Amino acid sequence: MTGPTFASTYAKSLQQPEEFWAEAARDIDWTRPWDTVLDLDTTPAARWFVGGELNTCYNALDRHADGDRAEQPALIYDSAVTGTTQTFTYRELRDRVARFAGVLNRQGVERGDRVVIYMPMIPQAAIAMLACARLGAVHSVVFGGFAARELAIRIDDCKPKLIVSASCGIEVDRVIEYKPLLDSAIEIAAHKPEHCIIYQREMVAAEMQPGRDLDWEQELATATPHDCVPVAATDPLYILYTSGTTGEPKGIIRDNGGHAVALKWTMQNIYDVSPGEVYWAASDVGWVVGHSYIVYAPLLHGCTTVLYEGKPVGTPDAGAFWRVIADHGVVSMFTAPTAIRAIRQQDPNGDLIAGYDLSEFRSLFLAGERVDPDTLDWAEEQLGVPVIDHWWQTETGWAITATCLGIEVLPVVPGSSGRPAPGWDLAVVGPDGSELPPGEIGALCARLPMPPSALPTLWNAEKRFVDTYLSRYPGFYETADAGYIDEDGYVYVMARTDDIINVAGHRLSTGALEEVLMSHPDVAECAVVGVADSLKGQQPVGFLVLKVGADRDADGVVTDVVAAVRQQIGPVAAFKSAVVVDRLPKTRSGKILRGTIAQIADDEPWEMPATVDDPAIFDEITSALATIGFPR
Ligand code: COA
Ligand code: AMP
Repeated sequence: MTGPTFASTYAKSLQQPEEFWAEAARDIDWTRPWDTVLDLDTTPAARWFVGGELNTCYNALDRHADGDRAEQPALIYDSAVTGTTQTFTYRELRDRVARFAGVLNRQGVERGDRVVIYMPMIPQAAIAMLACARLGAVHSVVFGGFAARELAIRIDDCKPKLIVSASCGIEVDRVIEYKPLLDSAIEIAAHKPEHCIIYQREMVAAEMQPGRDLDWEQELATATPHDCVPVAATDPLYILYTSGTTGEPKGIIRDNGGHAVALKWTMQNIYDVSPGEVYWAASDVGWVVGHSYIVYAPLLHGCTTVLYEGKPVGTPDAGAFWRVIADHGVVSMFTAPTAIRAIRQQDPNGDLIAGYDLSEFRSLFLAGERVDPDTLDWAEEQLGVPVIDHWWQTETGWAITATCLGIEVLPVVPGSSGRPAPGWDLAVVGPDGSELPPGEIGALCARLPMPPSALPTLWNAEKRFVDTYLSRYPGFYETADAGYIDEDGYVYVMARTDDIINVAGHRLSTGALEEVLMSHPDVAECAVVGVADSLKGQQPVGFLVLKVGADRDADGVVTDVVAAVRQQIGPVAAFKSAVVVDRLPKTRSGKILRGTIAQIADDEPWEMPATVDDPAIFDEITSALATIGFPR
């Protein structure tokens, strides 16, 4: 090999972080250079590129559209659910984004204002995000699978001037109306946006509220394009809410400068993708993977990105991903392990793969949940390309660990999500805050400061940021994942240390689910536990203790709470199983033993906790689980 080794690149990133990231920052166009690459004196966390100014949309679109990529496809919208494809060149995408920025600005949206985007996987979602970036406004995208109440919570927290939405989404063959959900969210929320801009899809015409609701196409027809507004590198580009330990989601802030620098850098160095090539992240713009790798990183790098509206299976079959790769010449793809498990379940021998020309396809990246070595091996064998597990979080915006294909192709170790990526100084920390030796499981932490793009704080919740991430292990960012690092530096992410569960790559708070269960008038106490699921990784199971004297129709209460979670959190919670029990197992201090319940449900070996008064309680849990089919 001729370039630098992974070891030397990694060492430089930790020993000379300012030189390392300043060099990467040369790939971004700045309207004002930074004064300080890394300011360690800012609170509550260090900030990157302080004093610098730029516009993220300019870097993602204009510099390509005004340069030699004007006629190159920037975005390919491939809708398996409607059977349509639409390609936007860099020039076309820039022009549409500039006009939509004009629409937003005409309604008073300016630098620093928040805009909530609640949309299905259509190009207008990406256009709305980029238009906000163009104005220096802060977008907050809410995943379409969330119900009205979840949307309302986010509206009240970030107080948008305006909301952008669409008449409907399509789930395989079902049309899901978005507008009634939006209307009811605005009704629930205390904060009322001035306007909603609605994209009317042809399947459903949303009912518009005169004066408040504006039609996307009509507004666009009379809009004048708006230019890029330079913002401070440390200004927020977006807020993305993610599950915390309570029902209140956390507003992760991403800043403009560090984000642009880090994400552009990852495209070549982690994914080994060059400008002009086609890259595809099969996620949703409502998740961090969609923000980073459907919208921003590929465009910052001058790639063609694919925005796919469909599922890995059922639209129409388990060959859907291979069809997209072949049709558009995708060189590298990113998805969640659950999607590969879904494909494998329906096409175990990979027969459908043979029908497609995957000759340009070079690598498959997986993240969002732990990938079991079996699934990784299957994908590698079927596709004949490296399959790379990499670990990251909404908080970081890019991979904490990976195999950096663009730096040096180190061996992949199944079960490990690779080595710490450049910029990430990881340690495994024990309960007393001391660093643990290789092979020992503890809290996975990143030594501060974190590299560019990692969250600088939480929206309107600085104390929560410090309490959640920085307090328990001073000098470290606590990832809330547990795991270990082996002698060779490979990282193994094993489980969350908080009550977050991961359902089909979607991050859910069991605390938020429990809040919904507790709101049922007959429920005295409850616990929600993440139980292993062969397709989705985990599924939530509820345990309910009913009030004495309540109408004890157990089946009725179960039906009610399942419906309530769907209605209040959304279908994405996939909450389908609950059971009534007489009591819950607890420690003497009253902590519910969720971990032991999960082990029983998963048919894993478990030890009787010493702090339990009556061991018979676990027989009761075992019997209750059996009535709803666990262990499976
Ligand atoms: N709008 C409205 N409803 C949505 C939705 C959206 N954007 N996304 C999902 N839902 C609904 C689904 O229709 C489903 O509803 P149902 O209970 O009526 O069937 C429910 O939410 C659960 O959805 P999902 O978790 O997607 O399960 P599924 O059974 O429909 O599909 C998989 C299973 C594995 C195919 C699917 O979960 C998948 O593709 N996962 C990949 C996840 C991913 O990309 N994660 C991002 C991190 S990289
Ligand atoms: P999210 O913020 O929704 O992206 O979820 C982040 C969480 O998903 C992490 O904290 C992990 O618990 C889990 N996760 C993401 N990627 C991986 C991975 N490659 N291996 C194991 N867990 C992962």
